[in-house]
This record gives sequence, C-alpha cells and structure tokens, in this order.
Amino acid sequence: MKVLGIETSCDDTSVALYDSEKGVAENLVSSQVDLHDHFGGVVPELASRAHLVNLLPLVDMLLERQKLQLKDLDAVAVTAGPGLIGALLVGLSTGKSLAMAADLPLVGVHHIEGHILANALTAELVLPAMVLVASGGHTELIHMPEVGRYERLGGTLDDAAGEAFDKTAKLLGLPYPGGPQIDRLAKQGTPGVFSFPRPLRKDPRPVFSFSGLKTAVRTVVDGLPRPLADQTVADVCYEVQEAIVDSLCEKLFAAARKKHVGAVYLAGGVAANGRLRDRVAAEASKRNLHFLAPERVYCTDNAAMIAYAGYCHLEAGRTDSLDLDSFPRGPVASWR
Ligand code: KG4
Ligand code: ZN
Repeated sequence: MKVLGIETSCDDTSVALYDSEKGVAENLVSSQVDLHDHFGGVVPELASRAHLVNLLPLVDMLLERQKLQLKDLDAVAVTAGPGLIGALLVGLSTGKSLAMAADLPLVGVHHIEGHILANALTAELVLPAMVLVASGGHTELIHMPEVGRYERLGGTLDDAAGEAFDKTAKLLGLPYPGGPQIDRLAKQGTPGVFSFPRPLRKDPRPVFSFSGLKTAVRTVVDGLPRPLADQTVADVCYEVQEAIVDSLCEKLFAAARKKHVGAVYLAGGVAANGRLRDRVAAEASKRNLHFLAPERVYCTDNAAMIAYAGYCHLEAGRTDSLDLDSFPRGPVASWR
C-alpha cells in the first residue's frame, strides 16, 4: 500500500510516501526557518502563505522522483490538527483535493500520534509504552497500550519544552529554532557555572513547568557583561539543557513506574536532543526498560510519520470523509 503523507501544522511543509512493502520511500521537508528567523518565532500568516506556495510543487516533486502518478497511490493521509489553523487548512484542503481528484481514501491524522508513531519507522514497537512527546508546541506524557490507543496522563502547565529551548536561546542571541543551537553549544559548556530551577520536581503529578526558566535565564543574562563571551553562552546552554532534561527525565520515569510499562519512548522535535536521548537511554537501561527514539529526521515535523500513522488507520479500516475539519488544539484521541 502506498500512502501519501502531508504535514503543514507549523512551519515545515512536508510530503512523504510510505510504502508498506519498502518503508519510507520519500520524505521531503521544505523548512521555513529563514522566513521566521527574523521574527524570533513562527508568524502564522507567513507560514500559511509559504505552505500554499510550497506544497503542490513538493507533491509534484515526490511523484516525479518516485515515477508515480496520483492514481498509483492508495490513500492520502494529512495532519488535521493540532497546530496553526491557517497552516493546517492549506494541508487539509490540498489533501482533500488530491484524494477527490484521484478517488483515493482520505485519512486525517493527529499530529501527536504522528510524532509517537515515528518511533515505528526506526524500530519495532515494544508495547505498552510510556511516551514523552516534547516539541515546540507540546510536552505530554502519553500511555500507549497499543497503536491507536492513547491515554494522556498530563503535560506542561505553561510553556512546552521546545519553547523553553527556543526562548532561552533567543535571550542568548542565538538563531531560531534554539533547540539545535543549545544542543550544539552545551557540548562546550562547563557544568556548575550557572544554576537554574527544576520546577514541580517534588510534585507527584505528571506535570511540567518551563515558564520560570526563561525568567531565571533572563535574570542571569541581564547581569552578564556585554558582548556575551562564547564560553559564557556555552555555560548557560549547558545548564539550561540540564534543567530541561532533568525535568523531562524524572517525570517520564515516574510515569513509566506508575503504569508498569516495559518501554519508554521519546517523540517530537525535542527528542532530537542528544543529551535527552543519552540520559533517557541510560536511565532506561538501569531500570531494564526498552528505550526507543525516532531517527533525528523523524523527530522534528515531517510527513513520513503522518503517512505511516495514516497507514495504521487504513489497515484498521478507518478513513475520513471529505467533511473532515482541521482543529487548532486537542489531545491525541484513541481510535481503536
Ligand atoms: O516537533 P517539532 O518539529 O514541531 C512542533 O510540533 O512543535 O519541534 C520543534 C521544536 C523546536 O522548539 C526546536 O527548538 C526543538 O523542537 N528541537 C530541539 C532540537 N531539535 C529541535 N530541542 C532540543 N534539542 C534539539 N536537538
Ligand atoms: Zn511537531
């Protein structure tokens, strides 16, 4: 089965082809980073317009590279939400039009389910699992007994983990998105030069809070001599990353213990973070838990994860009508 995936929930325009016999045959991502960098964050209206310009040429490129025509596909899977509503609408209406034109089934995919199932593109899933979804818009703990069944245990009370990376990077004068910059610079940082809070550490609930980190970093950075020395920036990056990774790790393993699962997964853009991956892998091994994280290209937004999630729905006989609506927010829903 050949499933075309479309993802336009935020600032990446992506199309992919998942072939149930070969795996991911194509995953094209057109990044809008340069467009939004100047503003220090994603500008929704600019994102929608860029999706509109880029999406159909990407679909054409995919079909050409794969020597396929629309009618050779078996289905179209598209992110229906959550995300920026204008950006989602571009992807959804394009997906519907392609499905209608070639008389193909349409499957709407929840963006978070896409991130979670990106793990299956890398290795066989071990279930039940506790999944930490951490991205620019989400930080959630999701108990997953099987594909298609998701129980959201809790999440952030304010900022997402990716937002914490991006906002603190901005305070340090680093380009957007800040996560990969902090990941890179923290490697040169000296431990212990700075110290940042780990809010809600003693709170037994599966909840996170990252908004205070920005204030703490601003207080420190405002007191530093200008221009900021490269080593100082690296030292701040190191401790910011430690604070975020500590919070994520502790709550992930507490939730895994509570639900007695045998596996922990990472998902979402922040799952690309080297320190987080290393820490979770080491802690999982100490506790005899199976550890999975998607390949880095499948951590950040991509359509391969949407095409694959769509394939799982289709295999279970679930499709959507052309009345399908996009939605800006809402938890990942079970469909099995
Ligand atoms: O999943 P994603 O591409 O988009 C959303 O659904 O939000 O996640 C983007 C987020 C950004 O906040 C970015 O800074 C963060 O993921 N990110 C990282 C890394 N790569 C991307 N954060 C920390 N370390 C990284 N290596
Ligand atoms: Zn995402």
